[in-house]
Amino acid sequence: MSTPHISAEMGDYADVVLLPGDPLRAKYIAENFLDNVKQVNAVRNAFGYTGEYKGHRVSVQGSGMGIPSMSIYINELVREYGVKTIIRVGSCGGIAPDVHLRDVLLAQGSSTDSAVTANTFGPGFHFAPIADFGLLDTAYHVAEKLGVSTKVGDIFAADRFYNDELDMTKLRDYGVLGTEMESAGLYLLAAKLHFKALSVLTVSDLIFGDEKTTSEEREKTFNDMIKISLETAIA
Ligand code: HPA
Repeated sequence: MSTPHISAEMGDYADVVLLPGDPLRAKYIAENFLDNVKQVNAVRNAFGYTGEYKGHRVSVQGSGMGIPSMSIYINELVREYGVKTIIRVGSCGGIAPDVHLRDVLLAQGSSTDSAVTANTFGPGFHFAPIADFGLLDTAYHVAEKLGVSTKVGDIFAADRFYNDELDMTKLRDYGVLGTEMESAGLYLLAAKLHFKALSVLTVSDLIFGDEKTTSEEREKTFNDMIKISLETAIA
């Protein structure tokens, strides 16, 4: 079998999938954290792998950037390959004043200016996309055990990376921790398709500061986030 964007066979994906935006991060996770790895997808270089973490089957799949690209992979993974749990492992820009570079954030919920929620529910109805509480609770306590402190709260999933009109100070005033481009879409699809979802994010840059990480650092140095996500995946 195959789908328009995935060439894997039925059964090639584990029930639980880690979903980084960057396919090279999927490769990095597979090569550095999983045993007995098999590559299951390379269509459009959206690499997917299945292997074992501490004896449990786990997959990792690159989703591309933004809700539209990510939604393609989620729909095909869940509807066609029967995936039950998706943990996004991504990067975000820090917004809240107490959020620092390389912090790990757990997206309890996700606000958005993407049209996906409004297009799903119609005018005047604002759906609140939220994480699976079991995964969130597990990730929070797993992180604590690993000695990694996390911050839990609202993540703004932006429709555009470059948006001069967006008022980030207002998001900061309302307590939003950080911004990326996927979590609201992930949580909306989790509600629609009845799978469990969580976004675990590393702060790669600061919206109100000029410290940044390089793309190489982003690929290589997010090991805390990956360990938290893998331990949550097999808990
Ligand atoms: N904005 C949107 N997406 C992001 C950012 C950002 O600042 N940093 C990492 N992903």
